[in-house]
Amino acid sequence: MIIRPYRDSDRDAVGDICVRTADAGGDSRHLYPDLDLMPTIFAWPYTDLEPSLAFVADDGERAVGYVVGTADTPSFVARFESEWLPRVSDRYPPVAEPSTPTEDMVHLLHHPRRMIVPALADYPAHLHIDLLPEHQRSGHGRALMTAFLGALAFQGVPAVHLGMLTSNTAARAFYDRLGFHEVDVPDAGPLTYLGLEVGPNAGLGASAAG
Ligand SMILES: CC(C)(COP(=O)(O)OP(=O)(O)OC[C@H]1O[C@@H](n2cnc3c(N)ncnc32)[C@H](O)[C@@H]1OP(=O)(O)O)[C@@H](O)C(=O)NCCC(=O)NCCS
Repeated sequence: MIIRPYRDSDRDAVGDICVRTADAGGDSRHLYPDLDLMPTIFAWPYTDLEPSLAFVADDGERAVGYVVGTADTPSFVARFESEWLPRVSDRYPPVAEPSTPTEDMVHLLHHPRRMIVPALADYPAHLHIDLLPEHQRSGHGRALMTAFLGALAFQGVPAVHLGMLTSNTAARAFYDRLGFHEVDVPDAGPLTYLGLEVGPNAGLGASAAG
């Protein structure tokens, strides 16, 4: 397995990983029959708008995991609105009153400002990380995170956050192990927000060796 920067040829593999992990860490195909929907919200905006912060775990044949994100959430949201939504709105037009899982997600797609959370202003970067089930718990998540945080540190970013479904307790154990801490966000609903300081003196939590 190698960790390397994202390439355009990884696009389908990244979409597939997203789909297979988008239901609180599990396969989402039973919820969202349109297999491009979840990547259009949670993976491809990042690979397209922030390619320098996209990394994949490559098993020699294909990408089997990725980390994507942005260094600055408010700027990303502005570009999401001005560049990303115009590209995808024909396929996913806005929904006035969402009433199905798919419509709920299309509603999210059209409300990128939900990503700007005042309580997270000190954590301007954010990320999404996913690996195919058969490649989880082998150290690749930690390796992807190391690559991503190194790129953030290189850009001088002070701190990163992520929002996760509170029900995804396996992912929470991973983030806890890496040293993320909970950030209190009022009215977070089903989400928990975690933060991590980035920079020359910051580091991930102890590895298996230490
Ligand atoms: C969450 C995820 C990215 C973690 O990546 P991973 O490759 O499985 O994790 P790693 O093997 O690199 O684990 C890193 C550390 O976290 C610990 N860890 C990971 N998952 C854990 C779990 N479920 N329970 C306890 N510890 C866990 C490991 O023991 C390891 O500790 P060590 O390095 O100190 O020995 C991956 O499991 C995944 O893609 N899950 C499904 C999608 C998902 O939920 N994504 C996050 C959405 S918020």
